[in-house]
Amino acid sequence: MTKRIAILTSGGDAPGMNSAIRAITLTSAKLGLQCVGFLHGYNGLINQEYIELTPDCVIDITQRGGTLLKSARCDAMLEDTGVQQAANALRKLHIDALIVIGGDGSFRGIHALSTHWHGQLIGLPGTIDNDLAGCDHTIGFSSAVNTATVAIDKIRDTANAFERVFITEVMGRHSGHIAYNVGIATGAEAILSFENYTKSDTAKLVQQLQRAITEQQHKHGSFLIILAENLWPGGAHALRDALNEQSNINCALCVLGHIQRGGAPSAEDRMLATELGVAAVETVYQAIQHDTFRAATFMLGNINGVLTSTPISTVLTRQKPVPDSWVKRYRDFLAEAES
Ligand code: F6P
Repeated sequence: MTKRIAILTSGGDAPGMNSAIRAITLTSAKLGLQCVGFLHGYNGLINQEYIELTPDCVIDITQRGGTLLKSARCDAMLEDTGVQQAANALRKLHIDALIVIGGDGSFRGIHALSTHWHGQLIGLPGTIDNDLAGCDHTIGFSSAVNTATVAIDKIRDTANAFERVFITEVMGRHSGHIAYNVGIATGAEAILSFENYTKSDTAKLVQQLQRAITEQQHKHGSFLIILAENLWPGGAHALRDALNEQSNINCALCVLGHIQRGGAPSAEDRMLATELGVAAVETVYQAIQHDTFRAATFMLGNINGVLTSTPISTVLTRQKPVPDSWVKRYRDFLAEAES
């Protein structure tokens, strides 16, 4: 009987997910495997809402943001009943391997499923946050950093024109990868992120920022602060208000938000997603050939240019902080404000 591979995209969508779907679909077709895509993340799996994926379905999608299969978060997967429903659906539809493209929440779903279903489960890292161990970069990170960089370069123009201070809040959930990459790429005067800030610092940090802003504005006028979301108590507005109220600073705020998730994927994301998509299907195919079909659950990623497989349990327990080298480099040589 022809083996059947299924794909779903889950959690926050990330540019490049479509390239992975395309690569999985095309590779499956070449290797004589059937391929189906569940819609709306794990919800589509539980509700058996799916499409057959053939090469015709994936024409002209690699350059598009979002995901052909739609995405969603799925509360039902947090309960054992939901996980059992998902496992039953996989059995009923004769799925042999499931590839999940998503972030840590999606991988918790894989972990839960592995106790109820014994087909092959493979994770591909797909999130703009880049907060997954087992890979240098997640699919979507490079595009989100590029999108935010382009936006902040524009903010710099208007900030320069008005000699103004700007806070730009970037996404990342609880990680600072986007904040650091974007902050350094745009030459921001300050980055406030999880790596260089603790809640007890708040008052001291506002004073340091005020001092740095006053000094910097004598030099060339504008001062850009990149703020990681979920960091500042009370949010970005509270930081803006603190700076405005406690000094004569006219500080503007821009929350970039979901703009960072949309748009055409960068070439780097398309390449990474394609590499991982092809590799996932090749792994399934080889397991079929060698009759080792019930492999452990793992995530595929690229580390230092090498395709790497990491157990899902490791991905879920290991942290991936922003490299210390970048935190130090920024603090010691590039930042205007101490932190
Ligand atoms: O995980 C991706 C992400 O965009 C995070 O950066 C952000 O915190 C979160 O998702 C936003 O989620 P939602 O789209 O559900 O508001």
